[in-house]
Amino acid sequence: MNIFDRIKKDHDEAREVMSKLKDTTARAEKTRLELFTTFKNDMWAHHKVEEAVFYNFLRDVTKMSKDSYEALNEHHVANGLLEELDTFPVTSEEWGVKFGALSEIIEHHMDEEEDDFFPTAKKLLSKETADLMGERFDARKKVVLAAIMPMDEKEFEAA
Ligand SMILES: [Fe+2]
Ligand SMILES: [Fe+2]
Repeated sequence: MNIFDRIKKDHDEAREVMSKLKDTTARAEKTRLELFTTFKNDMWAHHKVEEAVFYNFLRDVTKMSKDSYEALNEHHVANGLLEELDTFPVTSEEWGVKFGALSEIIEHHMDEEEDDFFPTAKKLLSKETADLMGERFDARKKVVLAAIMPMDEKEFEAA
């Protein structure tokens, strides 16, 4: 899967989780917390790996530095809001309002990547590079997600 399809796959999954989260009410505490934890970890890993694999190359090797910095800045803002959301109970009114704002930022960012950034980047990457980037993205994201999972009891026992 090339880098564009691989990133789009994550975006579509994120869109689905965001729409599920929007459908939850403050009473569905457990579901909301579970969905949000998955969403938060996945988005954080997505942003970090996207920066390391995709934007880093486009910024340094091609002339897309301005657009790359803009995207990186949006990642920074979104990651900050994800962390901030973690400090509010998922049942609070603040959480709902902040999640609404965050999802708008993320949706806008993903649409911009797909509609504006991808077409330009596609012209700059060879098929081989785009394929290799897709593979690297997938492999690295698995490692990042595994690395940020809390240790379970069995791992403590083995220590
Ligand atoms: Fe992004
Ligand atoms: Fe993205």
